[in-house]
Amino acid sequence: MPTEPAAFEAPALLAAEQLVAGYTPDIDILRDLSVQAWPGRISCVVGPNGTGKSTLLKALFGFLRPNRGRVLLDGHDVTGTPPYRMLNLGVAYLPQRPSLFPYLSVEANLRLGMWHARPAKALVREKLELAYQRFPVVHEKRRQPAGQLSGGQQRQVEIARSLMTDPSVYLIDEPTAGVDPRTSADIYALVENLARELNKAVLLVDQDIKSALGITDYVYVVKTGTVFSHGPRDGFGGDTDALVARWLYASG
Ligand SMILES: Nc1ncnc2c1ncn2[C@@H]1O[C@H](COP(=O)(O)OP(=O)(O)O)[C@@H](O)[C@H]1O
Ligand SMILES: [Mg+2]
Repeated sequence: MPTEPAAFEAPALLAAEQLVAGYTPDIDILRDLSVQAWPGRISCVVGPNGTGKSTLLKALFGFLRPNRGRVLLDGHDVTGTPPYRMLNLGVAYLPQRPSLFPYLSVEANLRLGMWHARPAKALVREKLELAYQRFPVVHEKRRQPAGQLSGGQQRQVEIARSLMTDPSVYLIDEPTAGVDPRTSADIYALVENLARELNKAVLLVDQDIKSALGITDYVYVVKTGTVFSHGPRDGFGGDTDALVARWLYASG
């Protein structure tokens, strides 16, 4: 089993180093958890329900201040930096539950992605046009309340909105939870595109191991708040069945 980080050409853009974090002072949910994300690559954190995957993303994005350990962005220590600053530093966070305002139009949701730049009307218009070119469905639905769109379409809007600020890192929490299999394939294609076409560093958290591993470069298997095994996806022999079995049946 590989224990060394992958020898990807570029250094990690985002790294969690031995993070310890939780919601109350006496209970640590993350216990010395370390993960990395590289430009143009997808790192995937898999593990059982309740193991701390969402907590990890919240700690990385600054919703939770780690008790110990560090968060490094492009080599700089950003541990405990609040979410609005992380956003400005080029980190996008797509939470487990869709984060659109359901009663606002799709376009209003997109504009909120550029809230900080709203006086720069020409820039906002340009970014909107780009989002519409990239996502024809989003263009088609731009006047509808976001809450009326299907789950997959809402994910597209979220991704379109996030791209308006041109982030370099994506933290994505279970993007296909509760979505039908065909839509799910579309969403994974979008996530894959973020890395392959747009060179984003993606840290994906997923319970749908088999599907997620299909687009993943580097895998972290997490149990009870700590990394239990990790390595390049192909280091697991490309054999996702074996990885799933190992994850499900291994003790420890
Ligand atoms: N807001 C919260 N306050 C207190 N405990 C929480 C909160 N959110 C999650 N937890 C607890 O943290 C642990 C890890 O949860 P979570 O990170 O959501 O797991 P996962 O995403 O892997 O399913 C669970 O025991 C959960 O009950
Ligand atoms: Mg979760």
